[in-house]
Amino acid sequence: MTVAVYPGSFDPVTNGHLDIIERSAKLFDKVIVGVLNNSSKNPIFSFDERVEMLTEVTAHIGNVEISSFEGLLVDYVESNNIDVIVKGLRAISDFEIEFQMALMNRKLSSEVETMFLMTSQEYSYLSSSLVKEVFRHGGEICEFVPNLVLNRMKEKYMEVL
Ligand code: PNS
Repeated sequence: MTVAVYPGSFDPVTNGHLDIIERSAKLFDKVIVGVLNNSSKNPIFSFDERVEMLTEVTAHIGNVEISSFEGLLVDYVESNNIDVIVKGLRAISDFEIEFQMALMNRKLSSEVETMFLMTSQEYSYLSSSLVKEVFRHGGEICEFVPNLVLNRMKEKYMEVL
């Protein structure tokens, strides 16, 4: 059984993330979506909210499980017998940072492998940060996030304002 982890902040999950989760679920026996629980990125959604949204939007994929990790990703990988880290690549600009992270993770734990999946072209410019920025300024984001996330965004920004 091959187990993969797809790690990230998911603040919030976008259609681009979902695309990578669905692609991974076809390749691996089990895909754990690992939500980072100590992000210094000041997320707008709480950890529980991010996990809840991910759980709902991946409910249709049988071999996907939502989980969380703190600290180093390689420690989580080792202690949960995970075989591979999956990352999505959107554009060349992702490559440099992902290359650094993959090599650092390999240095920290020589057994850890990272695999990269190309996102669909239609999501190649998408990121959680851009989605939040567009939404904050009144732009349309329904093409970029699942409906549930769109509704949670509306609620969240009503709270904040
Ligand atoms: O969605 P993000 O915020 O771009 O995801 C980044 C993430 C969570 C994959 C990365 O920051 C990470 O792996 N953090 C855990 C801490 C860690 O292991 N750092 C060293 C990575 S080389």
